[in-house]
Amino acid sequence: MLAGCAFCLVSCASNSGIARPTHTFAIGTNDFLLDGQRLQIRCGEIHAARVPMEYWRHRLQTAKAMGLNTVCAYLFWNLHEPHPGEYVWTGQADDAAFCRIAQEEGLWVILRPGPYACAEWEMGGTPWWLLKNDDIKFRSRDPHYLDAVKSYLKEVGRELGPLQITHGGPIIMAQVENEYGFYGKDAQYMEEIRKALVDAGFDVPLFECNPPDVMKNGMLTNLFQAANFGSEPAKNFAKLRKLQPQGPLICSEFYPGWFDTWGQTHHLGNAPKYLSDLDYMLSHDASFSIYMAHGGTTFGLWSGCDRPFKPDTSSYDYDAPISEAGWATPKFFQTRELFAKYLLPGETLPNPPAQNPVTSFGRIELAECAPIFDNLPAPVKDKTPRNMEAYDQGYGCIVYRTQLPAGPAGVLEAAAIHDFGFVFIDGARVGILDRRNSSAKIMLPARAADARLDILVEPAGRINFGPEMADRKGVIAPVKVDGKELKDWEIFNLPLDSQMLAGLKYSYAVANATTPSFWRGTFILDKAADTFLDLRALGKGDLWVNGRCLGRYWNIGPSQTAYAPGCWLHSGTNEIVILDTLGSQHHAIAGLATPILNELHPEKDFARTHRPVVKLNLDSATPVHTGAFAPGGDTQEIKFAAPGTGKYFCIEGLSSQDGKPYAAIAELDLLDAAGSPLSHNGWAIAYVDSEERAGEDGTAENAIDGQTANYWHTEWKNNSPAYPHRLILNLGQSQTISGFRYVPRPGETSGRIKDFRIYIGDNLVQK
Ligand code: GLA
Repeated sequence: MLAGCAFCLVSCASNSGIARPTHTFAIGTNDFLLDGQRLQIRCGEIHAARVPMEYWRHRLQTAKAMGLNTVCAYLFWNLHEPHPGEYVWTGQADDAAFCRIAQEEGLWVILRPGPYACAEWEMGGTPWWLLKNDDIKFRSRDPHYLDAVKSYLKEVGRELGPLQITHGGPIIMAQVENEYGFYGKDAQYMEEIRKALVDAGFDVPLFECNPPDVMKNGMLTNLFQAANFGSEPAKNFAKLRKLQPQGPLICSEFYPGWFDTWGQTHHLGNAPKYLSDLDYMLSHDASFSIYMAHGGTTFGLWSGCDRPFKPDTSSYDYDAPISEAGWATPKFFQTRELFAKYLLPGETLPNPPAQNPVTSFGRIELAECAPIFDNLPAPVKDKTPRNMEAYDQGYGCIVYRTQLPAGPAGVLEAAAIHDFGFVFIDGARVGILDRRNSSAKIMLPARAADARLDILVEPAGRINFGPEMADRKGVIAPVKVDGKELKDWEIFNLPLDSQMLAGLKYSYAVANATTPSFWRGTFILDKAADTFLDLRALGKGDLWVNGRCLGRYWNIGPSQTAYAPGCWLHSGTNEIVILDTLGSQHHAIAGLATPILNELHPEKDFARTHRPVVKLNLDSATPVHTGAFAPGGDTQEIKFAAPGTGKYFCIEGLSSQDGKPYAAIAELDLLDAAGSPLSHNGWAIAYVDSEERAGEDGTAENAIDGQTANYWHTEWKNNSPAYPHRLILNLGQSQTISGFRYVPRPGETSGRIKDFRIYIGDNLVQK
């Protein structure tokens, strides 16, 4: 509990700052106080790195016109410290300039410097080079991690400290860590991060944020608590109140939509509910931050990956009220209309700035080709292949080559593949190792003579959430053929940086459709303007326009276009380069006037179009537990009379609360013998009888990804299969389970399960 509300009434007019403050900000007993007056914070999140810097002012003006009085901004550590001790604060990384523009446009800033951010950003913002230390423990008091964090935060203080309100700037609050309660329980670690921010010169009020259900994990009682949720403000604030009896209420992440992952339906929020929840918060004196007010684009190779392994798309549109290209959507105008009713004394709403112009162009061929295997750098030799980080490579692709003896057809198997391994024998593709599968295994054809084996590894972004964030890339050894380990490798590093791209040798020779290659072409614009590059004719890879990496693409969707901001294009000739690792018959692109964010092509997926068919052995199994969930949306903990042991955990829903045929689960946690939740590391979905993939992303992984805002849902769009519904988890190894926690789907009641049975065993599923 907050002893005497320690954070309260700390007036932050500064004393020691360089610039004289003209305003004060404090967290009062009931309200946020700006110059002593109640400030209802109407905030929205925008990440400077996800918006071209040339457009920062436009987006901030649009945000202000929507009715926001504050913007919330993560800093991404890995963008600011690409190499240890080497800091970058210029160009797209100039967050101080972003904050100054916000101030000029009349917006306050809530800063979220990390060190961990999550945010669907590569490794949650953590620098990859920390992975060179095999033993490092992230988000802990491990000195290898903490010393690096402290240097970075000191640098943040140097760069952004002068922009605090206490020094005449717009920053009113700063966040300590991010949703740590999802990850750990070590309050001393949180105290180290809090102290590092104070030592770095942060003298505005600090806070931490968590979904209310995990808030108490590692909670600091001397820190202001903010709650993250996407629905049910009354219920969530009541939970927050239990842990923090006084102080203003703020929802620090309120979701108008959600992010997209490759192969899953584009997420659209429920606009009427979003508006009524905002209305509730506005009329109940609560503050909030819309995550995201404007999502923008995860340019470059910065997109992250959800757990267990769901790579994020480069579009971060998020179904936010301000679209990826900065357009004021219907949700924008509805939000503005609502906010207009709750303006504070003296506030007025400016008109939104004009939308940036858009252009289009017809299909052009990318005729020049530079096959990867003709453009390899000098190799590094290694007895056993190691991960990419061990070769001092952070991003891009990597080729592993060795000699393969003559022999009959057999199984090639690596310990793991992170993330996609295109396998070639003497230059011809023979299979694809795919992290989405439970093993890194393919069949190799018979070889009459010794042959050259190449594995081109294309990593997705590193996982940004949960313990899997220590996500080293490449081939994970040993690599074996029919059980015999392959030794003596050559490793070719392809960092995909500007130096590498400049050195590629192109020709007009037509490469084989499956030969991984760069393709180059030009398009001409009368006048540079925003456009959406139609990538539907391509396979999978990354793209650069005029030397700028616009992100990743994959023909399975849901995004089929890449946002090309006009400020990065030229009137006249523009160069486009694409890397296609998968290949395609024909390489052509066009420029469209509107984005395509919702076009799935599961038939183009080279692997998992369907879950593997498995045989269930439930009929002969005895349930470990039979019971009924209580109605309502609260998390429920079920304890078994006696623990069960096994590699598989099955929840069998027998009926729903509302009598409809649907089942949904936001999250499942399994409890060990001592009653603590087991790590989800290594978990996979072994079986699910039905999952909605057309009307929304109701895939079963959502029930074990650690996020409570998304959920598994049985089909409802094209089909409504009846109960029973079964979801079976493969825990990777046999575990003893004493009970479980069930988080019902948030917000809506449909899909809430009533009667259920639990089975645990090693043989519930047969392949
Ligand atoms: C969490 C994190 C955010 C973001 C959202 C999902 O709440 O705090 O950084 O990852 O989930 O978009």
